[in-house]
Amino acid sequence: MIKALRFTLLPVLAAALAAAAVAQDPIKVGEFASLTGKEAAFGQSSHKGTLLAIEELNATGGVLGRQFELITEDNQSKQGESATIVKKLISRDQVIALLGEVASGRSLEAAPIAQNYKIPMISPSSTNPKVTEMGSYIFRVCFIDPFQGTAMAKFGKDTLHLKKIALLTSVSSPYSVGLAKYFKETFAKIGGEITIEQKYSEGDKDFKAQLTAIKAANVDGIFVPGYYTEAALISKQARELEMDYPIFGGDGWEAPQLIEIGGKAMEGTYYSTHYSPENTSPGVQSFVKKFRARFAGEIPDAMAALGYDSAMVLADAIKRAGTTDHSKLRAAIAATKNFNGVTGKTTIDSNRNATKAAVVITVKDGAFKFVQAINP
Ligand code: PHE
Repeated sequence: MIKALRFTLLPVLAAALAAAAVAQDPIKVGEFASLTGKEAAFGQSSHKGTLLAIEELNATGGVLGRQFELITEDNQSKQGESATIVKKLISRDQVIALLGEVASGRSLEAAPIAQNYKIPMISPSSTNPKVTEMGSYIFRVCFIDPFQGTAMAKFGKDTLHLKKIALLTSVSSPYSVGLAKYFKETFAKIGGEITIEQKYSEGDKDFKAQLTAIKAANVDGIFVPGYYTEAALISKQARELEMDYPIFGGDGWEAPQLIEIGGKAMEGTYYSTHYSPENTSPGVQSFVKKFRARFAGEIPDAMAALGYDSAMVLADAIKRAGTTDHSKLRAAIAATKNFNGVTGKTTIDSNRNATKAAVVITVKDGAFKFVQAINP
């Protein structure tokens, strides 16, 4: 009798145990980020925010009874690397979704691969419209550059009272080219004049030729839709040439390095971004507190907040989908509505984008200061 029982029960037990093990396999999420190299500040910040979200989710039991495993790969801020590491994350690590990137150029590199393998990808903070146009599996949780460009054109005209502007664009960055275009369209429409346009490339260090041309054009401000390293060097060299008028830019300026590199030249400059740690809302303040406790007192910036929100939006979608099956998960992300995050409510629209407010930041006494919010 006992013997018979053993024979009949054992296989059942073994099958049940195997099923439990499968059910408890971690949910693998791939993150690709610029942890080193030219835009290391972007990748580091975004990664910390993402990691904080994943740790919090795991501490509260994960989703669907499973823990998350975050697999992070560094693209070294180099062109071509995102494609390589994203292929590896999909084929070798078998991640069920991708989180990344900050820079639009690198999201644009990864998106066709994610789309091809039907692996949902959520960019935390790439703002170029083309990113989500790459296909039905590509999402973002931030605003896009037609909004940011419009917001900064109006800020330049109405708040800074600038009438004649110089545009200094990085031709090797899709983000810069896009933001310049949207800024220009609105600035002209509201009666401003783009008096002169100059160009540079990512990694350039000497902007004296462009700045000398701008100086001769008698403008009353410069818009620099670029990343922080060049924006800081441009501001510094402009001040050396005694060009004292406002210099301003977009979210690409956001990094502590902007002030470290630019120093005094950054005083009185402005840029738009996605969030301010000075926001007194309980959601923002609780995030700031948790982040500082986890990362040695560091104050989280926009990339950290959006990295955090991207992981939380993904977890919420997995929960609603009840599965990590790629097409069901894709549909659940697409159906995200009013998801409450650090950077506001995320609703994914029919173009797989989010609509959120922007904030304007200035540099005052060597520190970033909130100026105003701009609602969509
Ligand atoms: N929006 C920028 C891009 O698309 C990246 C960025 C986001 C930079 C947020 C700083 C803060 O390339």
